[in-house]
Order: sequence, then structure tokens, then C-alpha cells
Amino acid sequence: MAKIEGVCREVCNATEYVAIVTQGDDGPHLAGHWANYMFLDVEDEVIVFPVGRFQKTEQNLRKNGRVQLLVASKKVQGTKSPGQGCEIRGSGEIVASGKFVDAVRVKFPWARGALVVRVEETKTQL
Ligand SMILES: Cc1cc2nc3c(=O)[nH]c(=O)nc-3n(C[C@H](O)[C@H](O)[C@H](O)COP(=O)(O)O)c2cc1C
Repeated sequence: MAKIEGVCREVCNATEYVAIVTQGDDGPHLAGHWANYMFLDVEDEVIVFPVGRFQKTEQNLRKNGRVQLLVASKKVQGTKSPGQGCEIRGSGEIVASGKFVDAVRVKFPWARGALVVRVEETKTQL
């Protein structure tokens, strides 16, 4: 079963932004992205973002490919009240060419590359 499904997919489609956490030598590093810049490849269990800056994120991913994303929206029902958040874990890589870069450049011609997150696990938080 695809991992970007059900509630997690709903939250990905409803969230306004995405928090992106990588691990550096000096600790965790937090970056952000607009959710409407995010491409969900549900079939291949991959999430792709256009990359402009993200220098530190790239540096971190070269040494340690682990990445975590957090998406959340009040528009999606949680278990007890309106609002759900979804934690997405996987491995990430910033690529400068290939099909994912071609895909992001259609909408975002400024992208120097693409952040490709291969989803391994998703977990709701609320
Ligand atoms: C909601 C949100 C949207 C962002 N969108 C972009 C973006 O489209 N392109 C970009 O390069 N940085 C964007 N940023 C800024 C990056 O998160 C920021 O540059 C971050 O520090 C990544 O660079 P770094 O890995 O070198 O720290 C956004 C940040 C937030 C909070």
C-alpha cells in the first residue's frame, strides 16, 4: 500500500507549508517550503520540492540522508477535534537533473534542482 495515502495525503493537500528537518554536525536543521510547491508522487512514494537555496539542507543530506517532514491543517479532522498533523520520514536527496528536476521546472523554472524525499513511514500526530 502506498504510504502517502488516506489522512496523510489529505493533510499534505490541505497544509499551507511543510517543515523539513535534516541532521547536521551541529544538530537538527529546520527549513520550510510552501505546500503548493510540493509534488506528491503517490505511486512511487516520493515527495518532490523545487530547490532554490537549501544549501545547508543539501550539505546535511550528503552526509546523512535521513529527513523528516511535518505537515498540518485545521481543515482535516483529528481523532478528537478539527486539526491533524502528519509526520513523514524517509530519505532525501537534492538532485540537479533528471525527471524530477524536469517536472519541477515546468512550474518553477528558477529551480536549481529538486529535493526528492523517498517516503518510508508516515504517522499522524493528533
Ligand atoms: C513557508 C516557507 C516557504 C519557503 N519557500 C522557499 C522556496 O520556495 N525556495 C527556497 O529556496 N526557499 C524557501 N524557503 C526558505 C527555506 O526554508 C530557507 O532558505 C532554508 O533556510 C533552506 O535553506 P538552507 O537549507 O540553506 O538553510 C521557504 C521557507 C518557508 C518557511
